Amino acid sequence: MTRHYVVVGGSRGLGRAFAEAAVRSGHVVSTIGRSLTDALEGGQFPCDLTRADQTADVLDVIRRDQGEIDAIAFFQRFRGPGDDWEGEWQTSLTATKTLIEHSVPHFAANGLKSIVAVSSVNAEFISPKLPPGYHLAKAGIVQLAKYYACKLGPQGIRVNAVCPSTFVKPENEAFYESHPEIVTRLAKLSPLNRMATYRDVVDVIFFLLSERSAFVTGQSLTVDGGISLQWHEHMES
Ligand SMILES: NC(=O)c1ccc[n+]([C@@H]2O[C@H](COP(=O)([O-])OP(=O)(O)OC[C@H]3O[C@@H](n4cnc5c(N)ncnc54)[C@H](OP(=O)(O)O)[C@@H]3O)[C@@H](O)[C@H]2O)c1
Repeated sequence: MTRHYVVVGGSRGLGRAFAEAAVRSGHVVSTIGRSLTDALEGGQFPCDLTRADQTADVLDVIRRDQGEIDAIAFFQRFRGPGDDWEGEWQTSLTATKTLIEHSVPHFAANGLKSIVAVSSVNAEFISPKLPPGYHLAKAGIVQLAKYYACKLGPQGIRVNAVCPSTFVKPENEAFYESHPEIVTRLAKLSPLNRMATYRDVVDVIFFLLSERSAFVTGQSLTVDGGISLQWHEHMES
C-alpha cells in the first residue's frame, strides 16, 4: 500500500537515507530541509526550522501539493553557525512541537497516523565532546514523544522516539572504510561486535511508523547494539 511519509531533515544523513528507502519502496515522500538536492526523488519542501513563520506553514503546503499525510519522521538536528543552545532548542524542540501540533488535521483518516522523532543515546548518556544543548534537546525529544502520545492518542495518533548510538551513514562511509582501526574499536563496544549503520536505524523507524507497531506509543527505542548494557569497568580487557 502506498503511504505518504513526511521526512523532516530529509535532505542529508539518516533522514535522506530514510527518504530514499521510502521512495524505492514506491511511497510518496515529502522532505523538509533548508537545502534542495537534484539527486533526491520525491517532493522537496524548503523550510528553515528556526523560522517560526516557515515551520507553521510547511505542512499546509505539503498537504496541498502531495495529499494527506500518513506518517512523519523527524531527523533534524541543529547544524550551522550561531549559538548551539538556542539553535538546538529551536531546531529540535520548538520545530518538532510546532509540526506535531500542526500535523493533526493533515493525517489521512485511515492512514498510519504515526510519528517518530529521532533522539539519541545522548538523551540518557553524556558525550562530553557534544554540547549540553544537544543532550537537553535529545532528552526533550523523548519527553515530547511521551507527552504527545498521551495528548494525541485519543485521535489515533501514535508518537515514539528512537535513540541510536553512532551509526555509519552514507556521507561518512568512506571515512570509516579508510579508518578500520576506529571501526574495530567501536565495534568491540557492542556485544554484536559491529558498528551500527544507517540501515539499522531506518528499519526500526519504518517499523515504528507501520501498523505492525499499532499498540506501541510514547516509547523510546534504543538502537545501540547493546553497547549501553555493559558496565564500563568490565570492558577494560
Ligand atoms: N550521526 C550519528 O551517528 C547519530 C547518532 C545518534 C543520533 N543521531 C541523530 O540522528 C538524526 C540524524 O543525524 P544525521 O547525522 O544524519 O544528521 P545530519 O546529516 O546533520 O542531517 C540533519 C538534517 O537536519 C536538517 N536541518 C538541520 N537544521 C535545519 C533547519 N534549521 N531547518 C531545516 N532543516 C534542518 C538538515 O537539512 P539542511 O541542512 O538541508 O537544512 C539535514 O537534512 C539527528 O537527529 C541526530 O541527532 C545521529
